[in-house]
Amino acid sequence: MKLIFLGPPGAGKGTLAAMVAGTYAIPHISTGEIFRAAIREKTPLGLKVQAIIDAGQLVSDDITIELVKERLDKSDAKDGFILDGFPRTIPQAEALAGIVTVDSAVNFDIADKDVVARLSGRRVCRNCSQNYHVEFMPPAKEGVCDKCGGELFIREDDKIEAITKRLEVYRSQTAPLIAFYRTAKKLVDIDARPSSGAVLEAFKKVFPQSGN
Ligand code: AP5
Repeated sequence: MKLIFLGPPGAGKGTLAAMVAGTYAIPHISTGEIFRAAIREKTPLGLKVQAIIDAGQLVSDDITIELVKERLDKSDAKDGFILDGFPRTIPQAEALAGIVTVDSAVNFDIADKDVVARLSGRRVCRNCSQNYHVEFMPPAKEGVCDKCGGELFIREDDKIEAITKRLEVYRSQTAPLIAFYRTAKKLVDIDARPSSGAVLEAFKKVFPQSGN
C-alpha cells in the first residue's frame, strides 16, 4: 500500500499515519519529522531549514524532493509506505510521479477552526516525537510522554502567527493537489473531524488489511 496523506496542518495526518504504520506494518515517512530531526541534530540541512520551518514557510522543492527520493530508495519502503506531508506543491507531486506510483492520496477534510484548536493544544515528546493534545489526547501525566517518559514541548511553528502562515501556504500551494489527485482518480476523502480512533476505523473500511 503506497499512500500519500494530504491535508491542512493539524488535520491529524501524523497521528493517523503513526497508527496505520503500526497496524499495516509499513513505514511512516514524514518530511516534517525528517526536517525536525535534522534541526535537533544541528546537521547542515537542519541549520538551513530551521528559520523557514519556524516561520511556517515551505522548504524548497529541490531540497525536499531529493530527501524523499533518498528515503524511498531504502529497502523498507519497497512494498509500501505512507508519505505524510509530501508532496506539498504541484512540482513535488510531478517529481514523485517520476519516482514511484502511489495507490491513493488520502485527503483529510477539516475546517480551519478545528485545525487551530488542534495545533494550539498540541504537545510533542522531545525524545520520541509522539503527539499529544492537552484536551483531546492528553498524556497520563501532564508534560510527560506516556511512551518513553520524555519531556513534552510546544513546536515553534504551533505559535499562532506561524499557524496562520501555514494555513495560507496550505491554501495557495498544497490545496491544488486535491484537484491534481482527483483528476488522476487517486483521491480518497476522509472526514478528519471525529476522534482519532474513529478516523482509524473509517480508514480501515476504505483500506482493509489483506486477509480481512
Ligand atoms: P509537517 O510536520 O508536515 O507539518 P504539517 O503538515 O503542518 O502537519 P502537522 O504535523 O502540523 O499536523 P498533522 O496533520 O500531522 O496533525 P497531528 O497528527 O500532529 O511540516 C512541518 C514543516 O516542515 C512545514 O511547515 C514546512 O516548513 C516543512 N515541510 C514539511 N514537508 C514539506 C514539504 N513537502 N515541502 C516543503 N516543506 C515541507 O495532529 C495535530 C494535533 O491534533 C495533535 O495535538 C493531535 O494530538 C491532535 N489530533 C490528531 N488527530 C485528532 C483527532 N482525530 N481528534 C482530536 N485531536 C486530534
